[in-house]
Amino acid sequence: MSTEANNTEHIIDIQNLRKSFGDNCVLDGFNMYLNKGENVVIMGKSGSGKSVMIKCLIGLEEPDSGTIKIMGKDISKISTDELNELRTEIGFLFQGSALYDSMSVRENLEFPLRRHTKKFGKIKDTTQLVMEALENVGLAHAIDLMPNELSGGMKRRIALARTLILQPSIILYDEPTTVLDPITSKEIILLMMSIQKKYNTSSIIITHDVDCARVISNRMILLVDSINYAEGTFLELSTSKDPKVQAFFK
Ligand SMILES: Nc1ncnc2c1ncn2[C@@H]1O[C@H](COP(=O)(O)OP(=O)(O)O)[C@@H](O)[C@H]1O
Ligand SMILES: [Mg+2]
Repeated sequence: MSTEANNTEHIIDIQNLRKSFGDNCVLDGFNMYLNKGENVVIMGKSGSGKSVMIKCLIGLEEPDSGTIKIMGKDISKISTDELNELRTEIGFLFQGSALYDSMSVRENLEFPLRRHTKKFGKIKDTTQLVMEALENVGLAHAIDLMPNELSGGMKRRIALARTLILQPSIILYDEPTTVLDPITSKEIILLMMSIQKKYNTSSIIITHDVDCARVISNRMILLVDSINYAEGTFLELSTSKDPKVQAFFK
């Protein structure tokens, strides 16, 4: 294994990321970093390339150029084994993070454990891990329910529990509160914050939700015109005089 992981300040470092689909240039030199324990919110118009950026980060899309380092490792230069190991450190909660309808809550949560036996060894009794993850989202009592017995908000919380069960050090949230009503959105945001506090995770949060950004962000990045157009705290950006920045806070 390489020893490049030493001495890394930034848990994620993206430099000069470029990605086009045909002549649709989506990212044209996007830069960002994430510090340990930090919550960085990314905002951008629909279709601006936020999800493409996240997909490049986790290897679902291949960048045209640029460098992506996760925990100090350039993901284009490491072996498949190393990449898989790195992936266990990263949890995702996508908008469409669907549960498997034919599996109970318990089985949904056990599923990722089975795929990552390397990190956890052969676990005989997964119940404790499942219960701990469910307790973190306040749904221990739902362990034997089927997804069709859950409300939309509960499903989202179970999906979050499933992300947590692998004990990731980085969590990527792609529009975690869309489609939820305002009260349920708030619950999810509070959960995200309590998880971050409890496990000292580092997160990138893509959201359109200004309230979510205000509450959760340590720093924000606005993706405009295919680049990291503006960067700063919520207060800095929300009081910016730049019309392109102001547009996000109206
Ligand atoms: N696999 C793909 N093939 C072609 N175009 C894509 C693909 N994925 C995304 N795009 C295009 O890239 C642009 C950015 O998409 P996306 O990152 O999903 O936007 P958003 O900021 O809303 O998440 C859109 O124009 C989208 O149509
Ligand atoms: Mg998207």
